[in-house]
Amino acid sequence: MCGIVGYVGPETSGRALEVVMEGLGRLEYRGYDSAGLALVTADGIASEKRAGKLSNLKEALEASPVPEAPTAIGHTRWATHGGPTDANAHPHRAGGDGRLALVHNGIIENFHALKERLLAEGVAFTSETDTEVVAHLLSQAFDRTSDLTGAMQEVVNELHGAFTLLAVHADEPHTVVGARRNSPLVVGLGEGENYLGSDVAAFIGHTRHALELGQDQIVTITPEGYHVIDFDGTPSDGKAYEVTWDAAAAEKGGYATYMEKEIHEQPHAVADTLLGRTDASGRLVLDEMVISEDDLRTITKIVIVACGTASYAGMVAKYAIERWTRVPVEVELAHEFRYRDPVVDTRTLVVSISQSGETMDTLMAVRHAKELGAKTVSICNTHGSTIPRESDAVLYTHAGPEIAVASTKAFLAQITASYVLGLYLAQLRGETYGRSPAEIMAELHGVPDKIQQVLDGMNRVKEIASFMADTRSVLFLGRHVGYPVAMEGALKLKELAYIHAEGFAAGELKHGPIALIEPGQPVFVVVPSPDSEHGLHGKVVSNIQEIRARGARTIVIAEEGDQDVVPFADEVIRVPRTSPLLAPLLTVVPLQVFALQLSTAKGLDVDQPRNLAKSVTVE
Ligand code: M6R
Repeated sequence: MCGIVGYVGPETSGRALEVVMEGLGRLEYRGYDSAGLALVTADGIASEKRAGKLSNLKEALEASPVPEAPTAIGHTRWATHGGPTDANAHPHRAGGDGRLALVHNGIIENFHALKERLLAEGVAFTSETDTEVVAHLLSQAFDRTSDLTGAMQEVVNELHGAFTLLAVHADEPHTVVGARRNSPLVVGLGEGENYLGSDVAAFIGHTRHALELGQDQIVTITPEGYHVIDFDGTPSDGKAYEVTWDAAAAEKGGYATYMEKEIHEQPHAVADTLLGRTDASGRLVLDEMVISEDDLRTITKIVIVACGTASYAGMVAKYAIERWTRVPVEVELAHEFRYRDPVVDTRTLVVSISQSGETMDTLMAVRHAKELGAKTVSICNTHGSTIPRESDAVLYTHAGPEIAVASTKAFLAQITASYVLGLYLAQLRGETYGRSPAEIMAELHGVPDKIQQVLDGMNRVKEIASFMADTRSVLFLGRHVGYPVAMEGALKLKELAYIHAEGFAAGELKHGPIALIEPGQPVFVVVPSPDSEHGLHGKVVSNIQEIRARGARTIVIAEEGDQDVVPFADEVIRVPRTSPLLAPLLTVVPLQVFALQLSTAKGLDVDQPRNLAKSVTVE
């Protein structure tokens, strides 16, 4: 939710506008309801803001250029308080001549009370946002202290909720002050210039040296350096790190959209997530798993908490982890977890899965789990983000930056990392139900090539999608690990093509959803491998017959060589043979490509679907 960027450079550089606009371009995936910026010029603050995408702000700046400046802040918004209008766009200005400008990500929960107080004092408001309240408070505090850092410290201690704030003041032209609570902010360290961003993408074109900030911290950047304090004023060092990817990884690399590029990066996302997890003898060694082996050996339950696509990765993981470890696994939507008094204790391992590491619902679930005494592990794609920092241990996925709002390569990397975790636990506990962790790891290492084969055979899926632009509803069926894959296929279609889509467990069909089938209804069926146990394959083939008999148009995803599906399928999409538990890493790919292509056929914005944002940092 909301992207924030700040920059301060040498007096003579005059490149604040360029740096901030570039940063906003890279952060637009976080929110695209409006965009704006403020520059600290020799004549005070100059600002511009526009409802709609960043392109609207660019046009406004072309029509009415702003002066060069060494210092600036910028914002791209996902609206919470107040609709996506010019007036509600950030920055918000306050003080005489609007000498202070502020941008904000998050929600100020006590803004009503604060606004009442300010209104009673005669302060006039120009927007409906919670942010403007903070701008006025900060301006008043600056008037008292003549110190932007001190003013920030005073104000943040009055605020409740989640926030990242960046502020500039015309009287401190070479300073940007930031603060964070429950919302992301990282520092980029340059030579004679420094940066702030909601994530490192904001400044990756300029530096890979970054600094992690802790919870409830304030940072002041100047061209010469930075200074970090806690909200109570205690100095802090922050934690420096190197970003492992470069600007090219955050570009489209010749693809029409980020999503298409990220779908094609999936073989690498899986391979890189497997990299370095085993020693020379093939034993799993997880350096990041700092929870003691004894504690892991004695856990009695695993609870996976996640949202959206990450929760479907968790559902896939449940089948594998239970199978390999014989430890019961529950999968819970993170936003439901803490509101139902979950049965969690010191022998529970709570595994959070999150691409961004900033999803507020998941973060709150992790905090609740810790309060209950559970051990917490984070599976995360974003180095230094809040969820891994607050968890006892982390297993990073190495998918690289995921910029398209719809998650694809992160999903595959999340499944891969959860499998690595499951195999590690199995290794510790001496269970794997027949196959050794090393054997399964060896098979996992072969999966990236198979994903590539799936990608190479996607022409028919693209054709099918291109002819379905007028389709109003698509159903997805799967069983066992194919069930969460069906759910993920439906989610992709909803968010990208705005088409009604439902994913069902194929066995559930006869208990109600079959009533939805009418002549011509497209239904994707994820068919388990003929090698699946308990006759599962035959049961799903029967399900296909049942819906075909009622007129459904069946688009079947089946293993190479599976001839049983052919008589009942209008279309067969083939994936290479693999063990049933590893199949989701292949079967989901055609569903991603289908959603991408259908969205494209409808002329929609694939990378930035309506109403969504990449990191959901509000509850
Ligand atoms: O960053 P996270 O993995 O925690 O995000 C969780 C969900 O918000 C995310 O997967 C969402 O469902 C995506 N838009 C799905 O494509």
